[in-house]
Amino acid sequence: MSTRSVLISDLDGTLLGDDAGLERFASWATGVRDRWRLVYATGRSIPSVRQAIATMPLPEPDAIIADVGTTMTVGAEILAGWPSEVRDWDPQVVRSVLGGDPSLAPQAPSAQSPYKVSYTTCGLHHMDLVRVARRLRSAGVRARLVFSEGRNLDVLPRSAGKGPAARFLLHHWGDGAGPIVCAGDSGNDRDLLRIGTLGIVVANARPELARMRGSSIYHSAAGHADGVLEGIGRLGRGSPQRQVATEPGGPFRVMLSRFC
Ligand code: GLC
Ligand code: MG
Repeated sequence: MSTRSVLISDLDGTLLGDDAGLERFASWATGVRDRWRLVYATGRSIPSVRQAIATMPLPEPDAIIADVGTTMTVGAEILAGWPSEVRDWDPQVVRSVLGGDPSLAPQAPSAQSPYKVSYTTCGLHHMDLVRVARRLRSAGVRARLVFSEGRNLDVLPRSAGKGPAARFLLHHWGDGAGPIVCAGDSGNDRDLLRIGTLGIVVANARPELARMRGSSIYHSAAGHADGVLEGIGRLGRGSPQRQVATEPGGPFRVMLSRFC
């Protein structure tokens, strides 16, 4: 059984967004290669991640969790068997139930997949999302709704998402003793940040994630990649929780998957 530590990080708005911070991160990651596994967990597709790695100083990861946790590669290979336990899911039914909703515009065809139906939303409120969830449930679809960046809505099989995908990957690897650190900046990182030893919310996080609290959640003072490095530096130094002024609240704090 491996005892390497694992860093599972989002890309856009987390590792990406500050070029100098990314250079510092890449230098750290290269130096700890033999002790840390590196995983990117993103809403991007695999080709889009590969393009980012080819054009930016992103270190080559051990695995990629793509399409909001509905696709995974380990090395160059797709990880077979994921998503697992998909039940009551049909992307055609999702599209037909939500097709006429004026507040939902389908994203580009390249953002759609058999396990991810994605929309750009316009003026969507919490109650609208509850309504969307109810309509899907009435049509026999058990979905996970993931709302990010104040505008993107991903409809996934209930068993998918970045957090469940990361658990599946860790089980596949059999990692045991080392810490598992996850980092993110927006709503599609919420379930991921709860799975490990430490969940880092970078300083530039979107409101839907900035409100997240928990004994294993650390809000970094630095943004983007520097925030990830700051959080990793906290490991082993007691409670990860920085003092924060406000309590959880706001319209999007409820886990939407609860309604599906
Ligand atoms: C990425 C994906 C998009 C998704 C968003 C939030 O931007 O391309 O489809 O909606 O992440 O998860
Ligand atoms: Mg992000």
